[in-house]
Amino acid sequence: MKLIIKQTNQEASEAAAQIITDQIQQKPNSNFGLATGSTMIPVYQLLVENHVDFSQSVTFNLDEYIGVEPTDEESFHYYMRHHFLDKLTHPPRQMHVPRGMGDEEANVLQYLQLLLIHPVDLQLLGIGSNAHIGFNEPGCDFNQGVHIERLSQSTLDANKKDLGKMVPSKAITMGIADIMRAKSILILATGEHKAQAIAAMFEGPVTNKAPASILQRHPNVTVIIDQAAASKLQRAQ
Ligand code: F6R
Repeated sequence: MKLIIKQTNQEASEAAAQIITDQIQQKPNSNFGLATGSTMIPVYQLLVENHVDFSQSVTFNLDEYIGVEPTDEESFHYYMRHHFLDKLTHPPRQMHVPRGMGDEEANVLQYLQLLLIHPVDLQLLGIGSNAHIGFNEPGCDFNQGVHIERLSQSTLDANKKDLGKMVPSKAITMGIADIMRAKSILILATGEHKAQAIAAMFEGPVTNKAPASILQRHPNVTVIIDQAAASKLQRAQ
């Protein structure tokens, strides 16, 4: 894993936006795997401000809550439209977000097939403070593809501010097996509350207790963090 430590959240977001921009320049018709969450908001904002041309690309989001309508403000569909799609000068050709409504099994199968047909060139990831990636929570099966995951209490607590009164208990998410098929992975983490998860991912053993640790086995991962998120790394001391 290639590690880039920036002084501030803003600088880390700029470095992440630059890698996405470089990917578009090298391959305009790239397939991107995208994440939601507060970490990504400044990255999407920079891509919007810089008028990056996504018009030949296709995007695939990691996850969506179960039982949430795409039009609900709490949904990841809504997040993506609000922070990215509707604001871009040159939006992607297609944007896919897994479906949280309707037949769960059919939705899982449909998304899995879509990902198998369209290999992801660059997968963007955030990380939970319990080291989840996508919604693959501690204890997850590393061999699993798209599936329905029961959300941990710590994840629900962390996302409470965005959920209002809604308390979804499950999400549809890309599995670790889907994430590991991406040709390259960019993981971004900012803030001290991510420091433990970053240390576990980077310096801990590969274990499903810290799902992000599996990324040590991927051949092309770039990790961008700020000083605060680096504060528990031995090698950064
Ligand atoms: C979101 C996702 C999650 C987030 C993670 C960090 O699509 O898959 O794994 O990346 O929960 O979220 P923030 O950035 O809000 O701390």
